[in-house]
Amino acid sequence: MSIWLDEVDSTNEEAKRRAAAGEAGPLWIAARRQTQGRGRRGNEWQSLRGNLFTSLLCRPEGSASRCAQLSFAAALAVSDMLAQVAPSAGIRLKWPNDVLADGRKIAGILLESESGADGGLKWLVLGIGVNLAASPQRTEIPAISLAELGVAPPDPADALDRLVTAFAKWYEVWLKDGFAPLREAWLSRSVGLGSRIRVRLPKEEIQGVFRDIDDNGSLVLGLPGSVRTIAAGEVFL
Ligand code: BTN
Repeated sequence: MSIWLDEVDSTNEEAKRRAAAGEAGPLWIAARRQTQGRGRRGNEWQSLRGNLFTSLLCRPEGSASRCAQLSFAAALAVSDMLAQVAPSAGIRLKWPNDVLADGRKIAGILLESESGADGGLKWLVLGIGVNLAASPQRTEIPAISLAELGVAPPDPADALDRLVTAFAKWYEVWLKDGFAPLREAWLSRSVGLGSRIRVRLPKEEIQGVFRDIDDNGSLVLGLPGSVRTIAAGEVFL
C-alpha cells in the first residue's frame, strides 16, 4: 500500500512516527515536498521539487543486520526503475547504497531500524530519494538528475509505482533465496569492483582495492598483505 502527502518534514520521520503508533506495514509513504529531508551520516537531503521522496515501513522477521540486506534490494529496485525510464542513463550501484547515473549520484537510500531487547527487528524504514527533475549543486559526491541527463523526468507518482513493483520482486527473491541472488545482482551492477578506492570511516580514511561484498553486504577491501571488512563508510572512487 502507498500513501502520498503534499508536504512532510521527512518521509523517514513520518514512517517512524507511524511505526511507533503501531502501523504494521508494509507501507510506502511518499511526499511531494520534504522540509527536513535527511541523508546518511547526518547530512541534509536537499528536497528539490519534482524529485521522488519515499520511505517504506516494513517489519520483516529476523535480526536488524539480516534485514539491513534489504537496502541492497532497494538499490536494485531503484536501478530497475531508472533503467526503465532512462535506458541509456548508465545506471550503476556504488557501495553501500548509492545509485549513479553517468558516474554521478542520482539516488540515495537511508536505512533506519529499531530492535527489541531480544535482538529481533521491530521495524525497518528504507528511505529513498531519487533525483528525477533536479539535483543539488556543490555536493561532495557529484550529483545528477534524469532531467540533466536529457531524459524527460517521470511524474514522481509514476516513478513510485515502478519502484514499488521492482522492490516487491527483489523482496520476494530475498524471502525465498536469501541474500545471495541480491549480492550477485548488486555486484554485476556495481562500480569500482577490482579497482582502487578510498573509504571514509568515522575516524579514519583508508585506501585499498574493492574486492567484494560479503554475505552481510559489508565491503571487502584488499590492503597490502591483508583484507579488511567494512560494515559502514563512504566510498570515493
Ligand atoms: C543518502 O544520503 O544517500 C541517503 C538519502 C536518503 C534520502 C531520502 S528522501 C526520502 C527519505 N526521507 C528522508 O529524510 N531521507 C530519505
